[in-house]
Amino acid sequence: MAAAHPLVIVGASYAGVQLAASARELGFEERIVIVGDEVHAPYQRPPLSKGLLTGKTSVDNLALRGPDFFAQNAIDLMLGRRAIALDPGARSVRLDDGAVLDYGWLALATGARCRPFALPGSTLEGVLDLRTLDDALRIADAAGRTERACVIGGGFIGLEVASALRARGAEVTVVEAQPHLLARAFPPLMSSYVENAHRRRGVALLTGRGVRALHGAQGRVAAVELDDGTRIDCDLVVLGIGVLPNAELAQQAGIAVDNGIVVDMLGRTSAPRVLAAGDVASMALPPAPGVPARMRLESIQSANDGARALASLVVGREAPCTAVPWFWSDQFDLKLQMTGLAAPGDEVVLRGDMASDRFSVFYLRQGTLVAAHSVNKPAEHMQSRKLIGARARLGADQLADPSFDLKTVA
Ligand code: FAD
Ligand code: NAI
Repeated sequence: MAAAHPLVIVGASYAGVQLAASARELGFEERIVIVGDEVHAPYQRPPLSKGLLTGKTSVDNLALRGPDFFAQNAIDLMLGRRAIALDPGARSVRLDDGAVLDYGWLALATGARCRPFALPGSTLEGVLDLRTLDDALRIADAAGRTERACVIGGGFIGLEVASALRARGAEVTVVEAQPHLLARAFPPLMSSYVENAHRRRGVALLTGRGVRALHGAQGRVAAVELDDGTRIDCDLVVLGIGVLPNAELAQQAGIAVDNGIVVDMLGRTSAPRVLAAGDVASMALPPAPGVPARMRLESIQSANDGARALASLVVGREAPCTAVPWFWSDQFDLKLQMTGLAAPGDEVVLRGDMASDRFSVFYLRQGTLVAAHSVNKPAEHMQSRKLIGARARLGADQLADPSFDLKTVA
């Protein structure tokens, strides 16, 4: 047993809970405390922009772990409490109620928050953003009454919310500042596909357009004004304009931060015995051609796999995070599944017919498969994950041929 002091985890969501679970699985016997500033027991976020808004998922089915999990694993869950200061020299963290927790290991799993939207009218009633269960319940409530919604931001939040609101019968307009939707995750071929898919399902899309102001009537939002003067009448505005990492605790303690807390593949920060994982962490990536040295990956897989690496460290059996990134998005009848990291300059190979809404796009770099984006093709997504992990070398002609069985690649 390497640790002689408690493991204190700040943040009671995917990364924090997975770290506690994995540490116990690996035999960590010291005290584990998770401090979380939300009052709800740890819950799943993906349904917040999907089933919870359409009514397919009930709030009772969102628990991240079963009701007995924390007690059975001797994990102290301190909810509704916020960590406000960290002293790496004294190895202690201070909470907002004055309590001070000493740690042997401290893990920062503080995630991210919605990027603020500081335009005129942003505080009007009916202007909502989405990160937490409480945010989602507010949108679900408004969704029942809305006739015309405007979604600002054409990223995953914006498009999933647009799809859920359309499913409930609202007219929906999405305004995206970049020339393409999902530009952070997708190259133009996939962005164009998603744009067409949304338009065909009745979403109005305005790309390459900025917002000048929101206008209200009797304190409620009534219209969005774009920077070219266009006015979109609406009774609900949902903001999906990206997130900022909750890295202030680390920054104030002098720990290296660069768009997230800088960590190596074991989750070690620049301060001894202080670790970080999940949306807040900018984690080192295994070296490979065309891959950045580090990245803040905003996904559940990344939070879970990063947390497993931290757990391996605290029990003294170091297993760095080398997992192939993957995540998914559900929009209308489309299951989008993404794996690997594509980059400009990759050879792009289409397998299947985009018009059928069942296809994969593969990305080859110097003949090696580095990423794949699949729509309604879960088996191809799973095979791609394995092939990317194995750094498989494939021909574009093989990948493009739907009769070529990817399972046969050694
Ligand atoms: P978070 O889940 O952000 O949790 C961090 C927690 O720490 C929060 O509860 C926060 O309040 C708390 N905290 C912050 N500071 C403090 C402090 N000082 N003291 C105490 N507590 C603190 N990813 C996918 O892969 N697939 C999806 O389909 C998907 N859908 C999503 C849908 C929505 C609506 C949202 C918002 C996200 C979605 N994501 C999805 C992204 C995914 O949820 C995140 O990547 C994941 O939640 C990151 O987990 P985390 O533990 O790092 O951080
Ligand atoms: P995002 O960063 O993916 O997308 C934000 C979008 O808003 C970008 O396209 C950006 O160009 C645009 N934008 C920014 N400012 C704007 C403005 N003023 N006007 C118009 N457009 C503007 O972030 P998003 O979609 O908000 O998601 C937040 C977080 O939730 C991310 O971490 C995301 O990964 C996660 N998430 C993941 C999902 C998934 O994996 N299926 C689903 C929902 C959320």
